Amino acid sequence: MFELERICLLCIFLSWNLVSGQIRYTIPEESAMGSVVGNIGKDLGLTLAEISNRNLRVSAEAGKQYFRVDVGKGELVVNDRIDREELCGESASCVLPIEVIAEAPLQLHRVVVEIQDINDNAPNFETKVFVLSIAEVTASGTRFPLESAQDPDVGSNALRSYTLNSNEYFSVNTKILKGGRKLPELVMSKALDREKQETHKLVLTAVDGGSPVRTGTVQITVKVLDTNDNAPQFDKQSYDISVLENVTSGTVVIGLKATDLDEGPNGEIQYFFGDQTPETILDIFNLNSETGLMTLKRKLDYESTSLYSIDLVAKDKGSPEMRGHSSIQISVVDVNDNAPDIVLKSLSSSMPENSPVGTVVGLISARDLDSSDNGKVSLRVLGDVPFTLKQSFENHYELVTSSLLDREKHIEYKVEISATDSGSPPLTTQKSFVFSIQDVNDNPPAFTQPIYTVYLEENSAAGKIVTSVSAVDPDTGENAKVSYSILDTKVNDVPISSYVYINSDNGSIYSMHSFDYENLKAFHIQVQASDNGRPSLSSNVTVHVFIVDQNDNAPTVIYPSGPMGSLSHQKIPRSAKSGHLVTKVTAVDADSGHNAWMSYKLAEATDESLFSVNVYTGEVRTRRAVSEEDDSAQTLLVEIRDNGVPAQSATATVSILLEDGIHEPVLDLRQKDPEPIRKNGRIAFYLILSLASVSVLSLVTCLILVVKCARSARRSSTCCMGRMDSDDFRARNLQLQLNTDGPIKYVEVLGGDMLSHSQSFRSCLSPLSEFSDFTLVKPSSTLDFKDMISVLDASLPDNAWTFESQQVRQSYNNYTFPLTTV
Ligand SMILES: *[C@@H]1O[C@H](CO)[C@@H](O)[C@H](O)[C@H]1NC(C)=O
Ligand SMILES: *[C@@H]1O[C@H](CO)[C@@H](O)[C@H](O)[C@H]1NC(C)=O
Repeated sequence: MFELERICLLCIFLSWNLVSGQIRYTIPEESAMGSVVGNIGKDLGLTLAEISNRNLRVSAEAGKQYFRVDVGKGELVVNDRIDREELCGESASCVLPIEVIAEAPLQLHRVVVEIQDINDNAPNFETKVFVLSIAEVTASGTRFPLESAQDPDVGSNALRSYTLNSNEYFSVNTKILKGGRKLPELVMSKALDREKQETHKLVLTAVDGGSPVRTGTVQITVKVLDTNDNAPQFDKQSYDISVLENVTSGTVVIGLKATDLDEGPNGEIQYFFGDQTPETILDIFNLNSETGLMTLKRKLDYESTSLYSIDLVAKDKGSPEMRGHSSIQISVVDVNDNAPDIVLKSLSSSMPENSPVGTVVGLISARDLDSSDNGKVSLRVLGDVPFTLKQSFENHYELVTSSLLDREKHIEYKVEISATDSGSPPLTTQKSFVFSIQDVNDNPPAFTQPIYTVYLEENSAAGKIVTSVSAVDPDTGENAKVSYSILDTKVNDVPISSYVYINSDNGSIYSMHSFDYENLKAFHIQVQASDNGRPSLSSNVTVHVFIVDQNDNAPTVIYPSGPMGSLSHQKIPRSAKSGHLVTKVTAVDADSGHNAWMSYKLAEATDESLFSVNVYTGEVRTRRAVSEEDDSAQTLLVEIRDNGVPAQSATATVSILLEDGIHEPVLDLRQKDPEPIRKNGRIAFYLILSLASVSVLSLVTCLILVVKCARSARRSSTCCMGRMDSDDFRARNLQLQLNTDGPIKYVEVLGGDMLSHSQSFRSCLSPLSEFSDFTLVKPSSTLDFKDMISVLDASLPDNAWTFESQQVRQSYNNYTFPLTTV
């Protein structure tokens, strides 16, 4: 049944379709609402009333109601927005079928509305900015497909073509694909260079065919991708620099700079030394590959290398890498950094002190590693040493002695040599060495005293040390070893070696027997000190030995003398007055000085009131006039004492006979004698005769004295006069010797031409005058008078005595005075 109904409906529809014909309208899309599509009432043959009665309407069966029937006017009008592109998309024709229904009777009419396209859409690119990267090496003519634009319009309103803003590198080509889609292609018409222009800004325009034309644009950015097409380039073809040799390690020598036009790794530069750079250079220079800073690894040395030539390479990091080349010349500038060096060649360490001036001590040379002025060296000897440098040829010197050497002044020298170069500032080196002087036996031993004087007591035991002499020798070693010896001289014809001997090691002189002053008053010893050098040197010194008298001799009565001793028989007249000279007792003492000073004393007398003895002269005189009562035989005992300690004495006995009326046998000396010279001479002659009994030698002396006296007497009235004026005294060249405070207390008056032996006489004329208290001595004929003076001078404690030109200026009185004081 249900099946049937459906078939029935289909039949009805078919019948309706048959009834009504097809109506077709055309409207443009996007027509306004209410726009009339067509008069459907009229086209269906219906009146306005019928339309309203029969409820003519558009079937609402399907979705959107784009159209409606305007009942009042019987027209089909637009009821909704009609977008062709929405309804039909890209299809070229767009037809909307609608059904219009009329009731009573029910009638269905088919109406077709064709929607016409209008250019209501512009071409459109989906992305507004399009970025394209193109490598710069890309060949020209290469095409790059771009995004196409969309235009939903159809037909002539659809997309028609693309255009590109004008530029020299690119153009656009519209490629029509199957199905009519239009694809833009970017065509590269010229090779790109990133280094010239990195990006290209293009505007692609899509144009449709509508009227008016609608367009859509897109920004195309073309980025040129870098290609390593540029090599790094150094800023100089070659570098030339100078570096002082004394710059410290780590110092930047130069900053290398290379440029690369490429970008990125292609433009990143690394610096290297050339592949063939030798190790020696790599040891010295460092090149920071990233910064290009060239630094020193260690100090330069002009003296080893003065110029470096190095190849340089700059590489970029592109692939493949590109290289740039350069080279650098580094001149090392000499700096005075090397002190001179002193080379001591064949240097003697010592030299004998007698080497002549100019003796070559050593060869010395100077070196300096620096060049030019920095290497010019001058040498000199520092300080005050007797050495100098003689240049033999450049930088070679001989060290020679500049003066005589004396080991005794300088045992050694510290020789300092300084070498200075001519750099600025100059550098100096010093070298020193010790130079010792070898001893040469050039100094004789020197005695510690120029002269030795010894006083030796007579009678002292043999084997006593007389004195010690000492000599020093400033030389060294054997040259300074001194040995002593006594030179062979003679004393009284006896070799000195029998008197004394010397300890040859230390100079002590020993006596070999005791000395007797009365035999030997003085002698001298010549001592020689010799060193052990080869040849040996020696020096002499004189030791004066004075034998000091001791009172070992008693006075000896020489008058009166007789066979039974000193007994004299004198006769005086009874008429003799007071002061009558009876006799004169004369004695001598072999000692000297005080020991020989004698005093006379009346020890015993028959009548002490009658006679007196002069204490000094020994004259026996009457004290009073002789009277008749006096015994005719008188005996006197005269004691003669010397002044020694202890004193020694002798006695003389004088027998006197008082006679009446006899002739006076003895002359009174105080009476004026008409011929005093003859008388004096005669008395002196007697005295000489008596002295001759003591010593033959004394006789000779006295003879000479007598001659002298006789000569002088011709001018002055007395011989050996006590008070000679000093001028006269000097003229006679008499020499005085006094020792006031020394061990010997006596004065010696020396005749200049006296030749007598060392014997002293107590006043040759002593019996004649109370002023003749002189001891005349000639110490030794071998002793020079000048020596004697100097000995005395040296031994005198005060300078009361001045001897000039062997002449005594002292007044005679000055001598006599202490002598007469017994
Ligand atoms: C010298 O030597 C002797 C013996 O050895 C000695 O008795 C004497 O005192 C010495 N003399 C000196 C000055 O030393
Ligand atoms: C020392 O005396 C001796 C003998 O008189 C002599 O030969 C010698 O030359 C003298 N030496 C000196 C240095 O005077």
